[in-house]
Amino acid sequence: MAKTPWYKEMAIYQIWVRSFCDGNGDGIGDLWGVLSKLDYIQRLGVDAIWFSPLYPSPNADFGYDISDYKNIHPDYGDLELFKQVLDGAHQRGLRVFMDLVVNHSSDEHPWFLESKKGKDNPYHDYYYWRPGREIRGLRRPPNNWTSLFEGGAWEYDKDLDEYYLHLFAKKQPDLNMHNPRVRQEVKDILRFWLDLGVDGFREDVVTFIAKAEGLPDCHPWIPIGNGMKYYSNLPQAHEFLMEFKRDVLDRYDCFTVGESPMTTPETALRYVTEGEEQVLDEMIAFSHMEADCLATDMIRRPFNLRKMKKAFTDWQMKLQGKAWNALYIENHDHPRIISRYGSERYHDESGKMLAAMYILQRGTPFIYQGQEIGMTNLRLRSTEQYPDVMTQNAVRLLSKILPKKQVLKTIQEGARDNARSPVQWSAEKNAGFTTGEPWFTVNDNYTVINAAAQEEDPDSLLDFYRRLLRFRKEHPVVLWGDYVEHMPESKDLYVYERNYEGKKLLVICSFTDKQLRFEAPGGVELEEKALVLGNYETNFVIANGFTTRPYELRVYLFG
Ligand code: GLC
Ligand code: CA
Repeated sequence: MAKTPWYKEMAIYQIWVRSFCDGNGDGIGDLWGVLSKLDYIQRLGVDAIWFSPLYPSPNADFGYDISDYKNIHPDYGDLELFKQVLDGAHQRGLRVFMDLVVNHSSDEHPWFLESKKGKDNPYHDYYYWRPGREIRGLRRPPNNWTSLFEGGAWEYDKDLDEYYLHLFAKKQPDLNMHNPRVRQEVKDILRFWLDLGVDGFREDVVTFIAKAEGLPDCHPWIPIGNGMKYYSNLPQAHEFLMEFKRDVLDRYDCFTVGESPMTTPETALRYVTEGEEQVLDEMIAFSHMEADCLATDMIRRPFNLRKMKKAFTDWQMKLQGKAWNALYIENHDHPRIISRYGSERYHDESGKMLAAMYILQRGTPFIYQGQEIGMTNLRLRSTEQYPDVMTQNAVRLLSKILPKKQVLKTIQEGARDNARSPVQWSAEKNAGFTTGEPWFTVNDNYTVINAAAQEEDPDSLLDFYRRLLRFRKEHPVVLWGDYVEHMPESKDLYVYERNYEGKKLLVICSFTDKQLRFEAPGGVELEEKALVLGNYETNFVIANGFTTRPYELRVYLFG
C-alpha cells in the first residue's frame, strides 16, 4: 500500500506509562490508568499516542530492556487490556505507536538465556559473543569500546569464557542484527503488533543496529561511548531498515520514527529523505536539546539560546523540501524544559512561549506527558534517590572529578529522572496519580501545578497547548510553510517566519526576563489585529515594534 502523508499533519502524545496514571492502586502507572485518560488526551488535540516500552522487562532501564517482545508487562496489564486501550484510542481518532527496542534485549530474554548455554546453541549468534584478548598476560575484553550507561562495553561470562557486547547497561546485551535470524525475529515482532492493530513504531537507537566487521578498537579512547564510529550510522543499518520496510512495513499503512543520538541532519537524511531510499518517516534529533549542556545532559552549561536556534534552524533548513522533522522539547530522556530553557519563576509565560516556539515549526510535534501542564524538575536531596541506571552511571563518573555538592546539583539539573516523576493530575494526595504509594517521588509543586487546576482556567498552559494544536491544524501555513529565521545573532530572542501561499506567520519568542526592544523585520507591518497567539493580555505596538516582557511570545499572521 502506498504511504499517505497523514503523519505530517499529526501531533503525538508520548506516554511513559509507569508514571502516567495508576489505575489499580499499586503505585505504578498502568494501562487501566491510560484508559481513564483517553478523553483527556483526545481533548488535548493530538492525533496519536506513542507508548514508551510496555513489554515485560526486568526494568534495568525501565522497559528499554525487553524480556518478551510480544506481551505486556504484568505491572501495566495484559494483551487484552492493551487491545482495549488500542480500540479506545482508535474510537477517539488516536493512532497508537509502540516503542521498538531491538538494538538490544534484556539479558533475561529467553534468547539471551539460550545464547549463554553454549557456543553451539542456535541462539549463541543472536548476540555479540567474543573471546577475550590476552594483553601482557591478562585477560582483556575483545576491544576497547565503552558503553553509554555502565563502564566497559563487554561483560565476561565464566562458563562460556566469552564476553558479550552491551552498548548500554550490562543488562542490555546488543542483538546481532547481522544474523538473518535476528532480522527475521524483528520482522515477526513488527507483524505481531501491526496485525494487532497498532499504527507504527518509534525505533530506539536505530542508527546503532549495525556494527563494523571485526569490531575494531577505537582511538582516541574516551570513557563513555568509545567505539561509536564503528556502530553509528553504518551503511548496513540502512540496509536492515530497508529490509524491514520492504518485507513488512510497506504492507501496512503505518508510521515510523527513528531515534538517533548524535545525529546530524546530513546523516538523518540518509534514512528520511522522501523517495526510493527512504526507510523511516522521521528521525528524532538531539542537537537542539544540547543548548545547556555538552553532548550529554550530565555535563551542564549555561543555557545558550544561539546554540538552540542554530540547531533548530539547521534541521528546518536542511530537511525543507526533502524530509519531515520530528519536533520535540521534552521526552523521557531529558529534564523538564521549563526548568532548562524557560524559567520556573515565569512558569506559565515561559511554558507557553516554549510550546509555540517548537510547535509552530515545520514537522510533527511530540508532546511528552506532563509537558502540557508545565511540570518541572524534581530536586531530590541525595543522588541515591534517582533510580535511573544512566543517572547512577553519571554519579559514579562525576564523583571522581567533582565535589559531592556539585555532583548532586548536576544530577538535579541533568537527570532524566526529572521527566519521570508521576504526572500531576490534581491537588489531591499523590497528585491524584495513585491511591497507593507512588513508585517514585511526586514533585512537591503538584498542589500548584496540576491538570485539574488548569482544566478550570481558560488562561492555563494546558488550554494554551490545546489552542496551539488547533491553530496548527487550521492553518496550512503552520503545516506546510517554509521556514526563515530572523536575528540569528540575538542572544535573547528567537524570531522566525513561515510562508505559504501568500500567508506569513511571524513567531517572536523572548528567552529572557529582560526588557528588550524588538523591531519588526523589513516589509512586515505589526498590526494588533494580526496577533493570533501570545502570552500576555495586552499587546501594544509602538513604531512597528515593542518592548518585550519576560519570556514574551507573540505570533502574528499576515495575508
Ligand atoms: C534510547 C531511549 C532511552 C534508553 C536507550 C537505551 O535512547 O530513549 O530511554 O535508555 O535508548 O535503550
Ligand atoms: Ca498500577
